[in-house]
Amino acid sequence: MSKFNNKLAIVTGGNSGIGYATAKELIAEGAKVIITGRRKEAVEKAAEELGAIPFVADQSDINDIDSLKTEVENQYGKVDILFINAGVTGGLIPIENMSIENFDQVMNINFRGAYFTLNKFIPLLNEGASVVFLSSIVATMYHPNNSVYQASKAALNSIAKTAAAELAPRKIRVNMVSPGPTKTEIMSKAGLDDEKLKGINEWMIEAIPLKKIGTAEDVAKLVVYLSDDSVSSFMTGTEIVIDGGMVL
Ligand SMILES: NC(=O)c1ccc[n+]([C@@H]2O[C@H](COP(=O)([O-])OP(=O)(O)OC[C@H]3O[C@@H](n4cnc5c(N)ncnc54)[C@H](OP(=O)(O)O)[C@@H]3O)[C@@H](O)[C@H]2O)c1
Repeated sequence: MSKFNNKLAIVTGGNSGIGYATAKELIAEGAKVIITGRRKEAVEKAAEELGAIPFVADQSDINDIDSLKTEVENQYGKVDILFINAGVTGGLIPIENMSIENFDQVMNINFRGAYFTLNKFIPLLNEGASVVFLSSIVATMYHPNNSVYQASKAALNSIAKTAAAELAPRKIRVNMVSPGPTKTEIMSKAGLDDEKLKGINEWMIEAIPLKKIGTAEDVAKLVVYLSDDSVSSFMTGTEIVIDGGMVL
């Protein structure tokens, strides 16, 4: 008997990186998994590779969250594992030069969208369900040029803890996973060229005591751990940092 037999999981942003790796682990452990993302082709390709159920939805669009909720309710009923993972970094821009467009894009995906994904799905969560928010070590860092991304993750940590307190009476656990640098497509999507990426990569490895970048699979295993009642039933409102020691 696998860990997640007869469990329904939703992974937002499941077509690449950490979401994809987590969907893979959940499916390997017997869960039925719905993955989302904005790019139809990427979502469908990933779903086919994984054996997941594709649903094209933009986390920053409340109508899309509503459609996802309605589809899940009508087709599958209740949800056991909600992994709110989709996120973007936005540009590396000092506060003085920040545009309202960049601010809104990052906050609407990473914070507002994550908040309303939880808001809409609360009625569908089974007793004993697990919610995991993908945060970041940047939630407690104040590096120049990254103000909005850092603030979006700090806000996420705040609501995750409030949600843990609100949902405890239904035995629903809400936790956060905060990775340090992890090898995915997120940095290239931020519009950095190969040379800049190489420079940032080298700087990050130097700054990490374990002298390596994490993998999506490292993070996925932690999300699976927090979703598994048999090992983490006493954990809620917890933030787990997985960063090779970077914040030390
Ligand atoms: N990689 C790191 O170093 C690192 C470190 C700390 C935290 N994180 C966090 O980890 C999470 C996953 O990122 P990743 O590193 O795995 O990057 P990734 O490979 O770029 O994956 C991001 C996923 O989110 C989806 N996504 C982005 N915006 C979306 C939206 N508006 N609606 C729905 N889906 C959306 C993307 O699909 P579409 O493009 O098709 O929408 C993709 O599936 C993010 O929240 C990120 O902030 C990453």
